[in-house]
Formats: sequence, C-alpha cells, structure tokens
Amino acid sequence: MATNPVPDHVPPEMVRDFSLFTSPGMSPTPNGDPHAAVACAHDGPPIFYSPYNTQDGRGTWVITRAADQRKVLQDTETFSSHRSIFSSVLGETWPTIPLELDPPAHGVFRSLLSPLLSPKRVRVLEPAVRERAVTLIDSIAASGTSCDVMKEFAFPFTVSIFLRFLGLPDHRLDTFVGWAKDLLHGDDVKRPVAARTIVTFIDELATNRRKEPVDDLMTFIVQAQVEGRRLTDEEIRGIGVLVFVAGLDTVAAAIGFDLAYLARNLKDQELLRSEPDRIALAAEELLRAYPPIQLIRVATKDIDFEGAPIRKGDYVSCATMIANRDPAEFGCPNTIDLAREDNRHAAFGYGPHRCLGSHLARREIIIGLEEWLARIPAFRIKKGTAPITCGGHVFGIENLILDWS
Ligand code: HEM
Repeated sequence: MATNPVPDHVPPEMVRDFSLFTSPGMSPTPNGDPHAAVACAHDGPPIFYSPYNTQDGRGTWVITRAADQRKVLQDTETFSSHRSIFSSVLGETWPTIPLELDPPAHGVFRSLLSPLLSPKRVRVLEPAVRERAVTLIDSIAASGTSCDVMKEFAFPFTVSIFLRFLGLPDHRLDTFVGWAKDLLHGDDVKRPVAARTIVTFIDELATNRRKEPVDDLMTFIVQAQVEGRRLTDEEIRGIGVLVFVAGLDTVAAAIGFDLAYLARNLKDQELLRSEPDRIALAAEELLRAYPPIQLIRVATKDIDFEGAPIRKGDYVSCATMIANRDPAEFGCPNTIDLAREDNRHAAFGYGPHRCLGSHLARREIIIGLEEWLARIPAFRIKKGTAPITCGGHVFGIENLILDWS
C-alpha cells in the first residue's frame, strides 16, 4: 500500500507503527481476530499518529480513548465530516449524505431521512425480517449439517431486507454484495470500478423512479423537498450511495462475527439457546466487542488536542473497535461478558452523525441470532477450516464454515 510521508508538524515520538488495515492479525489472515489485534492500541499513548491508516494509504491521528473520541465527534466545527471518502476513489469530491455533511446542512438531510428508519418503521418491517430469517435457516437445516454461513445466511438475510427497503430486486443480491466487497475490501483496481458501477446504478435508479414512481426509498428521495426545493442530482446520488453502502456489509459482518464467537464458545452458545431472553443484551456486548466501523474526521483548524499538535487538514481516526476496548470505559474490555450491563458502547458512533440505521440493524442482529439458535443445534467452526477476516474502514468476515454434525 502506498503511504504518504509523515507531516513535519508530527513529533517523531508520536508516530506508531499501527494501522487498521495492516496490523498483525488483520489483513486477510485465516483465523485472524482483527478486533483483538487493534485492542493493543491501548498499550501505548492515548493519541498517536499512524502513517498509513486509510484505504488510500493516508496517515491519521488515532484517538484511542472513548471519552476523547466523543469530544472529537461532538465538535463538528473543529472536526469536519466533509472528507469525500467514497467519491475520492473516483477522483471526485461530492459528499455522501448525510454522512459527509457538517451542520447546518447535515441536520436538514438527517431530518429528511430519519423518519424512514425510526423504531416505528422498523416495527412494521419486523415480520418480514423474521420470515426471511426463518426461510433461509430452515432451508440450511434441511440441506445438511454444515454451511458457509456468510454466503448462505448472513449476506442473503441482511441484504435482502435492505434491498426490500430500497425497493431493489432480490435476484441481483449476489451482484450487489460483490460490488460492496470490491468497494470495501478490494484492491486499487477493483475499488474504483466498483465505485463507478454503484454510482451509475444509483443514477439510473433515480432516473427510472422519476419516470415511474413506486413505493420505495429512491422514489421518496427523488420526490422529496428540502428548504422548499427539490434535491439536486448530486444530493440524490449522495444519499443513494450512502444508504446502499451503509446497509450492505455492516449488519452481515456483525452477524458473522457474532456467530464465529458463539461457534468458539459453546457454553455461551448453549446459554443463549436455552434462555433466548438473554439474546438482546448479549447482542449489545457482541456489538461492543466486534464493531465494524472506523470513523474519520478532518481538522478544520490547528488545534492542540490532548497533547497532539493536530493541524488543519489532518485526518483524525475514531475507530469504534478501539473505543469499545477502552479499559477506562469498560471493566475487563477484552473479556466478552454476555450479561454486561450499562453497555454504552460506540458501535453506532456518537454525536450528530450517530447511525440512523441502528434500530433496523439491532433488530436484524437479534432476530437473526434468535432464529439461528432456535433452529440449528450446537455448532462449531468446521474442522480444517478457518474464517477469513479483514481490517479496514469496515471490518469484515468471510468464509465462515459452521458445522453441527
Ligand atoms: C451493525 C450495523 C451498523 C453499524 C455498526 C453502523 C454504524 C454506523 C456508524 C458508526 C455511523 C457513524 C458514522 C460517522 O459518524 O462518521 C453510522 C452512520 C450511518 N448509518 Fe449505520 N451502521 C450499521 C447499519 C446501518 C444500516 C442497516 C443503515 C441503513 C439502513 C445505516 C445507515 C446509516 C446512516 C444513514 C448513517 C449516517 C448518519 C448521519 O450522518 O447522520 N447503518 N453507522
């Protein structure tokens, strides 16, 4: 991976050989545990500079303490979200919306979208979510005693729900998952191709829905008004791309990491199977231990932040996987305690950009685990196989072969 030189204002003693992309246990390593690998960030100073911590090899400040991350994420004037991570892959600068907007524009678009993902709307979707989980798992159970759980359950389950929400057809599910994988975990050749394909797809979808409106998210967006006007093509694209990418990989990754944990910890697995009322609380602890996302902000001015000389334009990383292992915030942070109370984890972020899809994501994870444990007997990772995990802006897991013979 290409890396940029460390800027002159960064004291050499603050530079640390650490990256969410390449640290040991994180690059596509069989059996790797990327979350455990990054927890080691707490062995060093609370803030340091990583010279290669983004997909395109840029350096970032790494904020390790959860309390300091909250300060950064709350202070949108100093730490901007306007960083065009998606469009920069294409050499462009338009923002994904609302993720890469700052106040006040951010609030305008967030208010437009939040009713679509409210707890009330999620309750309406819930029977379809459960039905989809049951259908998939029943078919897996009927066809043998082993399966590739990401391919046969986690992705088809979460992505089909998401496609229904977006108003997209199920039969293209594998294509969409492929695009998301290439975008989030592909190399320098695959990434821009996937990004262009997604943009073209979203633009065409918007054109089609303008011509022939149906009852779906894209029709809502093309018909919506903000501040008394219709949305521009670039705004429609920014929303469409964000919602597409936000829902494709994250929930599947969370379910995958959860099932991998339970496959390796049979006592916890049996406890949740025999006492399903514990699943909702356990899902929070698993979200704490295995969150998928790194948040990036850009400094809008020079600031000395908790001893770090951050300068205008510097990237600042608030990785949820690091915050969630902060010993100042969680007792025994590297121990997974499925009954942990007061679990104020950072998996869904913090401050004005806190995840809009958290209600849907939570229900999908809980329902997925409930139905899996109710239908599949004691399962383990299949002998001779090992899950493949990857680090990055979004942590992922694939090739998780479970066996219950
Ligand atoms: C386990 C699954 C998920 C996790 C861990 C997650 C995590 C996050 C995090 C950490 C952020 C904050 C990003 C930032 O501050 O820069 C975020 C924002 C967002 N998420 Fe999620 N997400 C998940 C699933 C979803 C789903 C299923 C959807 C949509 C259906 C969604 C939609 C969004 C949107 C629209 C934002 C932007 C909010 C804003 O900027 O105001 N997320 N998510």
